[in-house]
Amino acid sequence: MFKANSCGELTAKHIGERVTLAGWVHRRRDHGGLVFIDLRDRAGLVQVVFNPEVSGEGHEVATRLRHEYVLQVTGEVAKRPQGTENPNLPTGEVEVIAQQAKILNPSKTPPFYINEDIDVDENLRLRYRYLDLRRPRMKENILLRHRVIKFMRDFLDERGFIEIETPILIKSTPEGARDYLVPSRVHPGKFYALPQSPQQLKQLLMVAGFEKYFQIARCFRDEDLRADRQPEFTQLDLEMSFIDEEDILVLMEELFTSLVENVTPTMRVLQPFPRLTYRDTMERYGTDKPDLRYGLEIRDLSDIAAHSEFTVFRSALDAGGVVRGICTPGCAHYSRRQLDELAELVQACGAKGLITMPIGEEVTRSVLDKFLTREQSGEMASRFGAGEGDLLLIIAGETKMVEEALGALRGEMARRLELLDPNLLVFCYILDYPLLEKGEGGRWEPMHHPFTAPRDEDIPLLDSAPERVYAKHYDLVCNGCELSSGSIRIHDRELQEKIFKLLGYGEAEVEQRFGHLLEAFEYGAPPHGGIAPGIDRVVMLLAGEESIRDVIPFPKNKSAMDVMFDAPSEIPEEQLKELHLRLRLD
Ligand code: AMO
Repeated sequence: MFKANSCGELTAKHIGERVTLAGWVHRRRDHGGLVFIDLRDRAGLVQVVFNPEVSGEGHEVATRLRHEYVLQVTGEVAKRPQGTENPNLPTGEVEVIAQQAKILNPSKTPPFYINEDIDVDENLRLRYRYLDLRRPRMKENILLRHRVIKFMRDFLDERGFIEIETPILIKSTPEGARDYLVPSRVHPGKFYALPQSPQQLKQLLMVAGFEKYFQIARCFRDEDLRADRQPEFTQLDLEMSFIDEEDILVLMEELFTSLVENVTPTMRVLQPFPRLTYRDTMERYGTDKPDLRYGLEIRDLSDIAAHSEFTVFRSALDAGGVVRGICTPGCAHYSRRQLDELAELVQACGAKGLITMPIGEEVTRSVLDKFLTREQSGEMASRFGAGEGDLLLIIAGETKMVEEALGALRGEMARRLELLDPNLLVFCYILDYPLLEKGEGGRWEPMHHPFTAPRDEDIPLLDSAPERVYAKHYDLVCNGCELSSGSIRIHDRELQEKIFKLLGYGEAEVEQRFGHLLEAFEYGAPPHGGIAPGIDRVVMLLAGEESIRDVIPFPKNKSAMDVMFDAPSEIPEEQLKELHLRLRLD
């Protein structure tokens, strides 16, 4: 037996016991006679003392130890001498007096400190990910991920869901990104596509009669990466038959509330989850991923602006745009430099400029002083309930741009005003999405994916006014992060064909890409719907991390590379030949 106890489990109740531990040298202090080692294993750290008077042999081993050596120690658990206890360590009351020690494996000096939570270049961390994962913060994140997934599995199992695996080598199942393709050796010139999600497969499982399915599903999308996006990521994918939207919303609220209660009990969840319409959330927060931990709501000022002589307002309104703003409490004193920083931020979103209006100063520095009457500025202030010392930040222009710019500004001001409570999780549902939106080239594109059902009462509008068709689609958002999308699906061949046609697919293409699904709908497909929370994002929020890379054991870097394996990489000519491929690097 290499170890009979874990380092991290030792407490006062083990005092007097003889224990055998195995782990890594986390820290080493040589005090002349005595050598102190913090020995680390998955469960935590414990101090081991090597005293030449207790064991000369053991002490000799200790003098040879360096960081990250793998060590086995046998010794007696003792109470630490008074005044040397470490209240910050769960094992801080005790130490192990070494009687025997054996180096199981030495270690080269690691390329970065494992025992200090300092900033290390991310590519270096990823190059040595196995060392990075030894760092306590990263280890905790991976353990948390395990607990989250275990909780989800148990929760759904108790409610009659069946976990079913679906293939990775399959055909394109689109979610709006590019596919990753795998060439076939046995079928020259043909390719599998890795699933962007198991969307069609889970729908087929409903046709197969499983009624309640879930899977911890790996998804693959070739898209531009961000802090919350990876080329491969994991969803809690689920689908149910004979349900409506409310069933999914209630289930998810229960799942996430009890997940947080059980897994990260120090965090608070606001209940019930607020429900907002898509239109409302865009108008109030400038995004359909609002962070509701704070207010700073956007208000429309177009009606007041319409009465002013200010050309910036006039030209925006004449062009069919809007004038909107937010009120930031206590920021009237912001310096020129601070205001310039904010203007730069909104300019990056396409705004021509940022109009600022400090409240309550005799001589304000607002450009609006020249153009608004006292009544008009008073009206604007009272629209926000603004008072002395507050600062109004106003943008005029095209609606979409104004929403985006004010959304970004709202987030920035919340950071500056320290309104982001790290222990609060505000989940919310966004409902009433339009089914379609105009994409590049004026083509209709699905807001979610092409399998989402339109509202029953809107189906007749598909022919006459597709822009007015609403979807049976819901998003779950938490603290400004889109956790999950889902919908009630189309289960009728004719309707599904109609949607494909609206999206511009030709008949032959529909048959080639989706013929299997359409056919399945003709064999008694039940009404069904589902959702798929992104597990990486859930764990990121619960861990208080800012990037999903910090909660994925082996993520790709910002340029979609695995720098440890050096993937993607070139392949030998031989292999290309076998796959019937010739490279065309242009
Ligand atoms: P959607 O495409 O909205 O829906 O994805 C659902 C959730 O998956 C997560 N996610 C990602 N996480 C990390 N990296 C990515 N590149 C990435 N892309 C998406 C997000 C997102 O909310 N089949 C549908 C779900 C359904 O309708 O049931 C789907 O995949 O958290």
